[in-house]
Amino acid sequence: MTDHENAPLPSPDDSLIADTFGERAQLAHRYHQWLAEEATVRGLIGPREVPKLWDRHILNSVLVSEVIPDDARVADIGSGAGLPGIPLALARPDVHVTLIEPLLRRTTFLNEVVEDLGLDNVTVVRGRAEDKAVLESVGKFDVVTSRAVAPLGKLAKWSLPLVKRGGVMAALKGSSAQEEIARDAKDIKKAGGGAAAIVELGDSTDATPTYAVHIRKR
Ligand SMILES: C[S@@+](CC[C@H](N)C(=O)[O-])C[C@H]1O[C@@H](n2cnc3c(N)ncnc32)[C@H](O)[C@@H]1O
Repeated sequence: MTDHENAPLPSPDDSLIADTFGERAQLAHRYHQWLAEEATVRGLIGPREVPKLWDRHILNSVLVSEVIPDDARVADIGSGAGLPGIPLALARPDVHVTLIEPLLRRTTFLNEVVEDLGLDNVTVVRGRAEDKAVLESVGKFDVVTSRAVAPLGKLAKWSLPLVKRGGVMAALKGSSAQEEIARDAKDIKKAGGGAAAIVELGDSTDATPTYAVHIRKR
């Protein structure tokens, strides 16, 4: 990637980025650059997503922060190019995020980004969330996040074993949230989940609202 630190790519609203990421705003710009350049070249992000990286991906990912307690230990399963885990870690230095992703091409990218940004609150683990070896090596978390990874029932089966007692899984979903809860209620219960709650994230005037489906481990 080219060294671009002093000339960030244009962004929709610099004051929003500064408010969201504080002292790490420059690092958020650098992550945006990684997504716009390397992630696109390596086929991790579709070229048509590039103009929407800030709104639809980076800032949308940070919304999950609203359901993350102070100093939490978080696992983000199926991070892909780092969403929502890296924006969360940038916006919340108090939180430690473990990115769990099975594909080597993606974990290679994630490790390069973490090293380049100097993110000391991010760990990258290669593996499937439900693999025994992963479960045994990473321990348990206060919150397990995910975005665009699987239907809710499957997500509960993958996420809840990684959640410590009293902790939660928080799956980012769009308009399908309510329908998925109703459809997958049995699977959620079988996976050890309590009642599912829907938390609307961000500004309620957003044209396409984002929800966290919040399920506490029984
Ligand atoms: C559609 S991508 C979403 C990536 C990212 N969360 C985002 O919002 O852009 C789904 C990701 O989930 C990963 N994945 C699929 N099955 C998984 C599993 N069992 N455990 C962990 N990650 C998985 C895939 O490798 C892929 O990177």
